[in-house]
Amino acid sequence: MLEIKEQPAAPAGPEPAAFEGWKAKDLLDTDTLSTANIETIMETAEAMREVRARPVGKVATLRGATVATLFYEQSTRTRASFEVAAKALGADVVNLSASGSSVEKGESLIDTVRTLEAIGTGVIVIRHKSSGAPYLAAANTSASIINGGDGTHAHPTQALLDLFTMRRHVGSLQGRKVVIVGDILHSRVARSNVWTLLASGARVVLAGPPTLLPRTLALSGELGGCEVTADFDDAIAGADVVMALRIQKERQEGGLIPSLREYIRGYQLNATRLKRANPGALVMHPGPMNEGIEIAPDVAHGLASVIEEQVANGVAVRMAVLYLIVTGRAP
Ligand code: CP
Repeated sequence: MLEIKEQPAAPAGPEPAAFEGWKAKDLLDTDTLSTANIETIMETAEAMREVRARPVGKVATLRGATVATLFYEQSTRTRASFEVAAKALGADVVNLSASGSSVEKGESLIDTVRTLEAIGTGVIVIRHKSSGAPYLAAANTSASIINGGDGTHAHPTQALLDLFTMRRHVGSLQGRKVVIVGDILHSRVARSNVWTLLASGARVVLAGPPTLLPRTLALSGELGGCEVTADFDDAIAGADVVMALRIQKERQEGGLIPSLREYIRGYQLNATRLKRANPGALVMHPGPMNEGIEIAPDVAHGLASVIEEQVANGVAVRMAVLYLIVTGRAP
């Protein structure tokens, strides 16, 4: 007869009671997070980082939970780190792409998330090319929805892992100058970062070609509190953190930048420009990078770069978000 052995006792995980303070069904953007909520997520991520540093690097805190990644757009970092994060907490993981799923047969987003909910999925991480898609999903399922990047709108876990990485090096962001350079207009990363950085007291400067800057948004107050400039050389002076964004080649085809050569001349993060920043300034990039375009290879891989650390911290931060969402909803 088949013998089913009891699973070995799981290593202890962080105590849920220690991290009360953010109880939400979904994480759709950072703009709904208070300073206290952000602090809770950062503290929880620090505990998760310690879990990852242990010899096993896993706990069974979310055993019995199922997390789905539902990606309608390409991803390496976000998708892989959510999967690693969920498994590191003992959850089961279902990975779905638009290609190869019933989405190709015309199934709607709402029907897809309801199908996942019906098979017992409690958390669904969605990436979608349409801004707002995760909001539609969240309103039509009782599963928790985490926005893994929607169109040009938001990428909350990227902003949280960016903040976590900055804090580990800089400490408090209060009064620190953070410059984000590139295609601000279409960047969900920039938008979500603005909220967490302003909530942390940072001075935020958005720099890029005039055609890729949301001047009207800044003036209307939607990104209130940020400085916006087309002069990157001026912006980078005295910066504590410089984050370069991917220049999306389709923008060039759309005529929003005159040529890659012009872009490089005015906006590439290179060693000469980096000398204008404060000594020890951090170099960041959410990835994927176009090395040689928005960032010079020697800077991307230089001593000031924390780009690989951002990716590594993505696991701890996503563990924290999954943990807080699942345990926050537990009866
Ligand atoms: N930063 C980021 O979202 O990367 P991926 O597209 O690889 O997930």
